[in-house]
Amino acid sequence: MSLLRTTLRTSRLARPLARPFSASVPKMSNPTAIIPADVVPLTEEHKAAVLATAPVLAEHGVKVTTQMYKTMLGNNPALRDIFSHSAQTTGAQPLALAQSVYGYAANINDLTPLVPVVVRIAEKHAALGVKPEHYATVAENLIKALQTVLGDAFTPELQTAWYHAYWQLAKIFIEAEANLYSIGHWQGFKEFEIVSRHDESGTISSFEFVPKDKSQLPLQKYKPGQFVTIRVWVDELGCYQNRHYTLSDAPQADKYRVSIKREDGGADVPAGLVSSRVHALKVGDTIQVAFPVGSFVLPETLPKNIVLFSGGVGITPNLSILNTVTQSADGPNVSWIQGVRNANEHVFKKHVDDLVASTGGKVQAQAYYSQVDAVEGEGLHQGHVDVAALSPEALALADKDALYYVCGPAGFMHSVQEGLVARGVDPKRINIEAFHAGDA
Ligand SMILES: Cc1cc2nc3c(=O)[nH]c(=O)nc-3n(C[C@H](O)[C@H](O)[C@H](O)COP(=O)(O)OP(=O)(O)OC[C@H]3O[C@@H](n4cnc5c(N)ncnc54)[C@H](O)[C@@H]3O)c2cc1C
Ligand code: HEM
Repeated sequence: MSLLRTTLRTSRLARPLARPFSASVPKMSNPTAIIPADVVPLTEEHKAAVLATAPVLAEHGVKVTTQMYKTMLGNNPALRDIFSHSAQTTGAQPLALAQSVYGYAANINDLTPLVPVVVRIAEKHAALGVKPEHYATVAENLIKALQTVLGDAFTPELQTAWYHAYWQLAKIFIEAEANLYSIGHWQGFKEFEIVSRHDESGTISSFEFVPKDKSQLPLQKYKPGQFVTIRVWVDELGCYQNRHYTLSDAPQADKYRVSIKREDGGADVPAGLVSSRVHALKVGDTIQVAFPVGSFVLPETLPKNIVLFSGGVGITPNLSILNTVTQSADGPNVSWIQGVRNANEHVFKKHVDDLVASTGGKVQAQAYYSQVDAVEGEGLHQGHVDVAALSPEALALADKDALYYVCGPAGFMHSVQEGLVARGVDPKRINIEAFHAGDA
């Protein structure tokens, strides 16, 4: 059954900022004060005990995290305002948490490989307004779930080790999130008014919005590739739902733009909770937006060449990057490679073609149509994006400092990543942005 109701009223989506949880995130003078006083730095014994649980977590991790969310969300209904109902229903969120807890246990002796993962999770947490005190709630429920699922195997020694290990990890997140909150120009969600709406295809629409409170101007200048978080009220669930949406244009002082694919669902699949509701909005309606964050961005010192791979609606961060770098004549050369299903879904085609024509060779573009038997036109190809078949020029292979930005469905990103590595690109130069929770 579609959750999209034609009777959906904007006033519902624009419900006043009344609910205390996400409405504001107070700036804390000492965010880590929440950490219990008896928590100690991990000893070698603690680390060995945590490491020993890695195989058990690999096997039972999802059972543990599913149990944890069930108890935690049941006992703390206000948390339903920040957790995705759909990601709980599909199991994506319990899986993502289980993967991260396992990854932590397996890497407990050297956490360096986890740094990018920690950054990504902290960004999501900050975007959703996770507060230090929530870590105590998760601690209690996670330890309880480990006890329930593992039973006697979760010995007192393991419980002690995990208590200290959990808080070590929580401290890393709390500090990273405090840093992000200090950068954000506002806390929690602010009301914005939609000032334009443009349907890019049958399912993707762009929305531009400005802050209702003009004292917010100029807006926080985001880095191209970053995302905001939009929340809507869902009557059927009796709570808010939040989703992240990449800012899809070059930064402007007075407005933000997002381009959102409406998830229509199918026979046995409900429509996307947030995308369908935002698509029901029109110019003049209000949305609630959290500050921009994200690290799928260009470095301070720009490379000479960038290669932007986009699949479907994964075009949004790359479009923002493209629109920004082409504003200056000495920006990097751009190779634009886009995978779509067919001409109807070839969003922003004219815009990209115009940039190719107006930038004197600095931008070259190619698109691949996967659902079409034959394609005719400059830079158009039939099939899926195949890195092995792309020319060395299109991949900027001669430039050993070229950077690669890949965003799209998981299969698309894996195939592009593998293809680039096979063509000799150092994985460190490949940036990936996943629109789904957990491992990309
Ligand atoms: C960093 C980041 C940036 C993003 N940027 C963009 C962007 O620029 N543009 C954009 O369009 N999206 C973007 N996304 C994705 C976006 O955040 C949402 O995930 C997306 O809009 C779907 O949200 P929804 O609430 O509509 O769907 P949800 O309700 O979250 O459902 C997700 C999907 O699961 C299906 N589903 C729901 N319940 C079930 C079930 N029980 N069984 C099976 N299937 C089910 C839905 O039909 C839908 O396809 C981004 C995500 C991230 C993490
Ligand atoms: C050490 C503790 C924690 C770990 C290891 C952890 C791990 C994760 C991971 C792996 C994700 C998925 C990120 C992605 O999208 O790729 C995530 C998302 C999320 N986390 Fe945490 N987290 C922790 C603590 C918390 C706390 C304290 C809260 C607040 C109660 C919280 C709320 C969320 C929310 C709301 C999401 C987004 C998922 C959604 O939209 O449903 N997390 N976390």
